[in-house]
Formats: sequence, structure tokens, C-alpha cells
Amino acid sequence: MKKIVIGITGASGSIYAKRLIEVLVNLGIQTNVVATEKGKQVFKYELSMDLDTWIGELSLQHKNIKLEDNDNLFSGVASGSNKYDAVIILPCSMGTLAQISHGLSQNLLCRAADVAMKEGRKLVIVPRETPLSTIHLENMHRLSSMGVTIIPAMPGFYHHPKSIDELVDFLVGKILDYLNINNELFKKWEDTTNGN
Ligand SMILES: Cc1cc2nc3c(=O)[nH]c(=O)nc-3n(C[C@H](O)[C@H](O)[C@H](O)COP(=O)(O)O)c2cc1C
Repeated sequence: MKKIVIGITGASGSIYAKRLIEVLVNLGIQTNVVATEKGKQVFKYELSMDLDTWIGELSLQHKNIKLEDNDNLFSGVASGSNKYDAVIILPCSMGTLAQISHGLSQNLLCRAADVAMKEGRKLVIVPRETPLSTIHLENMHRLSSMGVTIIPAMPGFYHHPKSIDELVDFLVGKILDYLNINNELFKKWEDTTNGN
């Protein structure tokens, strides 16, 4: 993986996006971040930090991170000729999920997702909502049937997490596993039934 686009929306779970960005940037992967306005607001509310400021600080130490303007449809990531490997939208709101599942590309985030689908690249949606309505489930089914991977913000507990950070790392590790990016963010399952 050389270049990944991260989309952040106004669903709860900004901490997942922050952690994934930190890991990708430290791995040296070019990471382009697109956030909706609501995504920035929820990021500030949940993490008590400003997304623009945080990425600005990160980009002083790392050259492989860029914050995109969600209104800038002239950005490279709006075009199929720009070769990025995957688009990960986390957390993904039900609103953005609905837009993507119906091909609406009114902003850069949705356009990048649309491009990933049309170019046959990896698109990962990390939805967060509970309970889920039939509309939400139908939109997820629609995307899944088009080859989009749905990785719900739904951490497991079989690794006996002791902290929120460990729960977050479980989910981020699952996303990296799906992208074939080696990581040790969580302990992988081993068969304990026969002593192996
Ligand atoms: C604190 C907070 C948490 C929210 N959590 C969720 C959520 O988990 N899932 C969701 O679909 N919407 C959630 N919302 C509502 C979305 O932010 C709202 O639908 C918004 O219009 C989404 O816009 P976007 O898709 O452009 O980011 C939340 C809103 C707030 C203020």
C-alpha cells in the first residue's frame, strides 16, 4: 500500500480515525484525509482537539500526510487517474453511507469513494450507528453487493481489552489486516483447544 485516502464523517468514533491515521503515517504510507464539516465538529467534541490543527502539527513531522478540502473537487483524489490504493471511511455516518450507496458525489469524500468503486479499488466503510434501521441495512447491503467492505465499528472482547485504546486498536488492526498491512495492534487468535 502506497497511498490511502481516509474519510472522516460526523458519526461517533473519531478516535478510530485518529489512531488509523497515526499508524499509517508512522508506516510511511501517503495518507490523504478528507473530513466532512460534521466530521470535524464531532472530532473536536469527542477528542477535545481540532482536526485541522492536529493534522497541521503532524505534517510538520511527517511529509506523508495531507488534509484535503472536502469542497475541492479539483483535488487529485477526485480523479480515477490518481492512483490511490484504498479509501477508508471511518467513522461513517448513516448520511454519508446513504450518499455513497446511491452514487451521490456532492463532496470530495463521496467522490473519492465513488472513484474507488468505479476503478475497482478497495473501499472500506466503517459504519457506526445503533440500532440500525432498514434503510441503513439496505444501504450497507447495496454497497456490500458492489464489492465494498463493511467493517462495523464493533470491537471484539476475546482479546481481553483493558482499555479504550486496546478496543480501538482491535478495530484499527482489523482494518489493517484487511488491507494486508502487517500489524500487531491486537493479539491474533490462536487455537487454545489442543495445546497448539
Ligand atoms: C456527537 C454526535 C455523534 C453522532 N453520532 C452519530 C453516529 O454514530 N452515527 C451517525 O450516523 N450519525 C451520528 N451523528 C449525526 C451525524 O453527525 C449527522 O447525521 C451528520 O449530518 C452527518 O454528516 P456527514 O455524513 O456529512 O458527516 C452524530 C452527531 C453528533 C453531534
